Amino acid sequence: MLIDTHAHLFDDRFRHDLPAVLERAAAAGVERVICLGIDRASSLQSVDIANRYSLVVAAVGIQPNHAAEAAPDDWDAIVTLAEREPRVVAIGETGLDRYWDRTPLAVQQDYFARHIELARRLNKPFVIHCRDAEADVVNMLRRYAAQGPLRAVMHSFSGDRATAHACLELGLYISFAGMVTYPTAQNLREVAQDVPLERLLVETDSPYLAPQPVRGRRNEPAYVVHTATFLAQVKNVRLEDLENQTTRNAQELFGWPQQTQLEARN
Ligand code: NI
Repeated sequence: MLIDTHAHLFDDRFRHDLPAVLERAAAAGVERVICLGIDRASSLQSVDIANRYSLVVAAVGIQPNHAAEAAPDDWDAIVTLAEREPRVVAIGETGLDRYWDRTPLAVQQDYFARHIELARRLNKPFVIHCRDAEADVVNMLRRYAAQGPLRAVMHSFSGDRATAHACLELGLYISFAGMVTYPTAQNLREVAQDVPLERLLVETDSPYLAPQPVRGRRNEPAYVVHTATFLAQVKNVRLEDLENQTTRNAQELFGWPQQTQLEARN
């Protein structure tokens, strides 16, 4: 069994066939999908999807590229969802992004700090988006690590080995998405070889960047199998062992709501 630890099921590209997408995921051996919001509206949608489909749980947050356009009460709405909704298992996605540069860095840092502090207060993990901002992210994480252990994952890891080691030292999990399967991503494969199986997670980041051999299509949670199969080869372990360990890792990091709360309405 596998867990897709990062998907955006509220995306328009799933509007017409989400039930079929989730059926295919279950048939492919995916036992849980975490649907992450990127702003207020999509965080609400993520919670709504988690409440409708037992396969799905939610994370809520304002992604750094959306922080500039966030209204003041958008953050309050995120806090309320995180506090009240039992199927919210994590805070995010959050982090820093210098690639798109849509939000001034100081605003991104302010929102990143809010997410970390909210996660701490509610004893939930947080999910980090990092693009071309590795040093800034690690610096900020080190500041918070000085106050207590971090429960977090670097999602769709795209940094170098030094960054990966810094994150591992901080106690983080490292998650790989479809990019690691691309022929040009030799550097990511080297990072994947370094990451201990006990700290590894897998994800699709659906609907973006589908793995080989379905690259170019709309990505969906069932395709996490391709990334897992690829990583098992890279790490020279049996697929079954990689599935079991990454699933245990996800359960340990995210935990799940109690069984009664998992009996969603579908
Ligand atoms: Ni994402």
